[in-house]
Amino acid sequence: MSEISDQIQTLVPDYVRNLTVYQAGKPIDELTREKGLTRVSKLASNENPLGPSPFAIKAMTNALWDVHRYPDMNAYMLKSSLSKLYKLKHENIILGNGSEGIMAYIARAFIQPGQEVLTCQNSFIGFSIIARSVGAILKTVPLTEDYRFDVIALGKSITKKTKVIYICNPNNPTGTYITKTEFDILMSYVPKHVLVILDEAYFEFAIGKEDYPNSMDYRYDNVLTLRTFSKAYGLSGIRIGYGFGHEDLIANLHKVKLPFEPGLIAQMGAAGAIHDKPHLRRTVVNNQRRYAETFDFLTKHEFNPIKSVANFIAFKTGSEEASRYMFDSLLDQGVIIRQLKANEMPDYVRVSLGTKREMSHFFKAMEAILPEYNKRYGRPKK
Ligand SMILES: Cc1ncc(COP(=O)(O)O)c(C=O)c1O
Repeated sequence: MSEISDQIQTLVPDYVRNLTVYQAGKPIDELTREKGLTRVSKLASNENPLGPSPFAIKAMTNALWDVHRYPDMNAYMLKSSLSKLYKLKHENIILGNGSEGIMAYIARAFIQPGQEVLTCQNSFIGFSIIARSVGAILKTVPLTEDYRFDVIALGKSITKKTKVIYICNPNNPTGTYITKTEFDILMSYVPKHVLVILDEAYFEFAIGKEDYPNSMDYRYDNVLTLRTFSKAYGLSGIRIGYGFGHEDLIANLHKVKLPFEPGLIAQMGAAGAIHDKPHLRRTVVNNQRRYAETFDFLTKHEFNPIKSVANFIAFKTGSEEASRYMFDSLLDQGVIIRQLKANEMPDYVRVSLGTKREMSHFFKAMEAILPEYNKRYGRPKK
């Protein structure tokens, strides 16, 4: 290592040096450039394939004339809409640059080096990276055999050092969820001084399930819920998410929040999107239809997909090599899926549910690659 980079290394705490950079799904432009393809279906990042609501586009377009001004740091308009929709007070709401922006505030406000963050393996890694970046020690327990958060194992793993428990419900990348009963069991283990983060990024897709615990129906002082406009609302590109919880928790998050996050366009886009119930309905219905077709396709080809209530499906290839082969061969066909090595599931891949056209591209691409894939890898034993 050169002298300069040695010096830089001394600036970096161990807990930052040991992190790796988050790998996002491959952008469409990059693949088009690399492979000279004319048709690309990105099924890698659980976005809304129908795009944003036209009301969001209109609100953002109007807001463009005001970008020489700082945004309203209290985001009055968007908070009022959220308050009305969910019967919350402004004091119970925090906004951020995506729900990951709020995760960063949580780490800054509540977590100190050496404290423990408890969660399950095979979950969203964004929160883990953020927690480790402030020196938290990550403790994980396995998912249940049916790929769900194991609330009893989590409850039994709480120690004096546990500061935060992160629950992803529905879970990314498995698409599974904990039920109302399981949520009650979990909370029966959690002491009042431990903070539970409920990540409900995919809640709009799961809310139809009767036993799904909508955290809006609970009022625990030590539970903070995170939601986002990136998924069902189709606004990942402008970075806006919201969280709600006890006003004292929220007040402390505001102390560490950058004052003008989220930006004006993000605030207006979300405020425009939130009232468009028909668009949300179309999104959910498209997802249900594509889910049924895709689940059937994967089952027919004996991939044993994991039952999901979200807008993606994970399925088993059996090995990291088979996952890589499938990913690369689908890329050659213009279809971008996701390998799950970062989620400690290297022998699985995940496909996001797109439009009907995108999914038929995926089915055709799979059919094109499967003869050679099957010869090389066959199917894993269950
Ligand atoms: C479970 C989960 N939480 C949070 C996020 C991040 O969402 P946002 O775009 O709001 O930062 C994602 C994105 O993939 C996710 O899957």
